[in-house]
Amino acid sequence: MQDKITEQIKHETEKLVKDLNYHCYRYYVLDSPVISDEEYDRLYFHLKDLEDKYHYILPDSPTQRVGAPPLDKFEKVKHTEPMLSLDNAFTYNDLEEFDKRIKRLLKSDEDIEYTVEPKYDGLAIELTYRDGLLFKASTRGDGYEGEDVTRNIKTIRSVPMKIGGVGIIPEEIDIRGEMYMDISEFEKLNKDRENKGEPPFANPRNAAAGSVRQLDSSITASRKLHLACYGMGAIKGINFHTQYEFIQWLKKARFPIPDITEERGIEKVMHAVKEIEDKRVGFKFETDGAVVKVNDFGLQKQLGMKTREPRWAVAYKFAAHQGITKIKDIQGSVGRTGVITPFAIFEPVRIGGVTVSRSTLHNWDEMERKDIQIGDTVVVERAGDVIPHVISVIKEKRTGREKPFPVPEKCPVCGSTVLREEGEVAFRCIGLNCPAQVQEKIFHFASRGAMDIEGLGEKNVELLYSKGLINHFIDMYRLKKEDLLQLPRFAEKSSQNLIDAIEKSKHTTLARFLYSLGILHVGEYASKQLAKNFENLENLYHIKPGQILKIKQMGDKIAHSVSDFFNDRENLHILKTLKSLGLKLTNPDFEGEEKQIKPLDNLSFVITGTLPKPRNEVEDLIESLGAHTTSSISKNTSYLVVGTDPGSKLRKAESLGVKIISYTELLHLIEQKK
Ligand code: IVH
Repeated sequence: MQDKITEQIKHETEKLVKDLNYHCYRYYVLDSPVISDEEYDRLYFHLKDLEDKYHYILPDSPTQRVGAPPLDKFEKVKHTEPMLSLDNAFTYNDLEEFDKRIKRLLKSDEDIEYTVEPKYDGLAIELTYRDGLLFKASTRGDGYEGEDVTRNIKTIRSVPMKIGGVGIIPEEIDIRGEMYMDISEFEKLNKDRENKGEPPFANPRNAAAGSVRQLDSSITASRKLHLACYGMGAIKGINFHTQYEFIQWLKKARFPIPDITEERGIEKVMHAVKEIEDKRVGFKFETDGAVVKVNDFGLQKQLGMKTREPRWAVAYKFAAHQGITKIKDIQGSVGRTGVITPFAIFEPVRIGGVTVSRSTLHNWDEMERKDIQIGDTVVVERAGDVIPHVISVIKEKRTGREKPFPVPEKCPVCGSTVLREEGEVAFRCIGLNCPAQVQEKIFHFASRGAMDIEGLGEKNVELLYSKGLINHFIDMYRLKKEDLLQLPRFAEKSSQNLIDAIEKSKHTTLARFLYSLGILHVGEYASKQLAKNFENLENLYHIKPGQILKIKQMGDKIAHSVSDFFNDRENLHILKTLKSLGLKLTNPDFEGEEKQIKPLDNLSFVITGTLPKPRNEVEDLIESLGAHTTSSISKNTSYLVVGTDPGSKLRKAESLGVKIISYTELLHLIEQKK
């Protein structure tokens, strides 16, 4: 039931929202927090408690960033002003030509003032703010019409829910920018995907685009995305004179912005462009160029646009770090989950200061698409700090002696059958005792994010395995110092260190342990979600997929994989043995009894009209299943339950697009979610 709200509660809620948003800005935009994560969480949960109790939820509350149910499809959004693309310049001569054209069009001999910014390699986004509040976020699409990704974008903490920090709040403003992923985050994500047996993203741009264009916003929330705002679309109620002034306003209004400089004359522009190019290897994100814009908005207007690009801007593209080399051989490597990944061995080549001698070819679909064969001469690229990859084959260099590398029928390591599961890109070795898989599993078990056993890197795992000391991660807990002392790289101290590290690893958290097990499709994120929802390991024994599907973040694939794992006799035996060998798990992630998943968790209901049962009984039923009921409709209402003689709430729900259901449909919904 809803408690009565006082002015003091309203004031407290408003202050919490304001403070939390400020701390979000300090953390995610400025990268300089002023309170600890624990303090932030304390304030957040206090706000959440107040909101749950009094239902006074401000539209810019940080609690409104997450928790929206998945969509069936994206709605289309028409951009008020088209989202243009950019003309490219590849040489300094092209930049000089660009400058000459502008002077000619403006009939000016004077040096033009430009701005220079890095070009982010991500996904263009338009953020529409109405009266200062984030109203809609859309992708660029074809430039005229994009997709509504508001729910997803709201989960990204560096995107302000409300314009803050400035005096005048425009009535309406379309702010444009690029959503991108840092290189380190991209590599972490890909490693995690490979660990889970999922195909990796080809580059940070695809990873960012794939993360934003998700029907389930909780997936977007789990990816660390960044924003850089560099432009505007339609505006009402505010005026800017220059690009530089606009970017400074964005900065004050707490938006993340690119490094921008003002340069008079094309000579200085070329200098600034060169400076970005020199610095780019140190950037955390990938950039393939610099964007040069005429600074003055009045001049921009005079210059106008061509069909798809403005005449007042150009993207200077940096030369990618590329090299040409020959593929000496292609081989298949077998990962922890049995996935076979083809990789190329090159004649070593220097690219951007680094010697490259091998690179992954990702999978056979990709290899076929690029028609890569052994003996081919290929273009290899290192973009930023990203792992090198083959861009294309130089077909003219073919001699006729090239050989394709077909999918192996047998595992290259253990000779077991290789299969491709329906709908999957990957081919897998199905051998349970495949040495490659076994070693990768042990290595994964001991790795940093998992049981974190220092001293058990790939080399030592290989050594212990080859000497027959470990065949499974469980064997580690039976290792004795004497066993290690016989090995080539182990002396008294190093042996003791490893034994101590193994002993220490016995005390860990449930989330880490679940991740260590290397269950198919279960990475760090899914392990954390499981730990949040299951108090201890034993609660997962003999679990059914349906019980896991009640966790909002879990899909079918994970649910079945986890269920298969915890219903396998051999696996359960291993877990029990580990416990008897001293494994002790704590679970700080568990969200407590009252937060245990209930079928209607995170939903809100409003009732109107007369129902077949007394209204308070229906409300009690809904609330006992984890949802809350309120008396008034808002856009945050999940369902309006309609009885006979409905009141004005019905019309309001229709206008807000809130789902409307009958009492019988409510009962169905409960059954379905159970
Ligand atoms: S200005 C009309 N500035 O590059 C001006 N774009 O290749 C349009 N981009 O669609 C954009 N960094 O998605 C601008 N600093 C920057 C940018 C940038 C990345 C993207 C943007 C645009 C694409 C054109």
